[in-house]
Amino acid sequence: MIKQAIIPLAGLGTRLLPLTSVFAKELLPINGKPGIEYILDECVQAGIREIIFVISNKKKMIKNYFYNDKFYKKIIKKKKDKRVLQEYKKILRFKKMIRFVYQNKPLGTGDAVLKTKKYIKDKFFLMLLPDDLIIKKNCSRSMIALHKKYNSSVMASMNIKKNNVSRWGIYRLSKKINKNNYMIKGVVEKPTIKNAPSNKAVIGRYILPRKIFSKLSKLKPGKGGEIHITDAIQSLINDDEKFIAHNFPGKYLDCGSMSGYIKSSLEISKL
Ligand code: G1P
Repeated sequence: MIKQAIIPLAGLGTRLLPLTSVFAKELLPINGKPGIEYILDECVQAGIREIIFVISNKKKMIKNYFYNDKFYKKIIKKKKDKRVLQEYKKILRFKKMIRFVYQNKPLGTGDAVLKTKKYIKDKFFLMLLPDDLIIKKNCSRSMIALHKKYNSSVMASMNIKKNNVSRWGIYRLSKKINKNNYMIKGVVEKPTIKNAPSNKAVIGRYILPRKIFSKLSKLKPGKGGEIHITDAIQSLINDDEKFIAHNFPGKYLDCGSMSGYIKSSLEISKL
């Protein structure tokens, strides 16, 4: 069973400046609700029990959002506002599930995951990138079902236009399992068009084996001087670890870019 999830949240959000100059991008509202709560709802509905937030000192605001009990209690006592009470109960439920870990140097997603090593108990865990919202269908839930069926690591995948490959991790596929699922032979972080092995991109949902920690601790910085999760995954595949790329059925929204962030509110308001 997959019971634990990791969410790397130490990123600076420069693509969303000026909104992120004093504000954590994951708390920015998307159709009246902080983006991170969509990700948390997805986790809870997929059966996740514990969520590890990797934040930084600069992003402490995220912890404060879940630890503002005194403020809520004061308001609720004074105003007896039902809506505020409901919101507070929801925040409390999330707070009980979340553990905070710190990554104070921006050394990449792989390094963020490595920071959680001592807390991961089971053989496999879920990792979600908060910039990637997936609506209409619960992507984590369908990936967990696939993991159970094939006892394999699973990553979300989406077809993209060939001229956009350098924005993404790109899969090298081997066998087709069925219409939406492929075995993965490799994955390349942000290749050039010439070097891209396919037009299928890695989207920010991963079911990874605990074994990845030993790979991560040995990795040297890759592209852009960062420790990439992609490189650790490639190293596991080289050791014959099974990985499935899951072309998920929901709708993808890129909340990490300004145009995507604006579009996401419009799309969610239509639901
Ligand atoms: C990260 C991953 C990349 C993946 C992307 C999905 O890149 O490194 O492999 O395709 O997320 O959003 P980033 O968005 O941090 O540049």
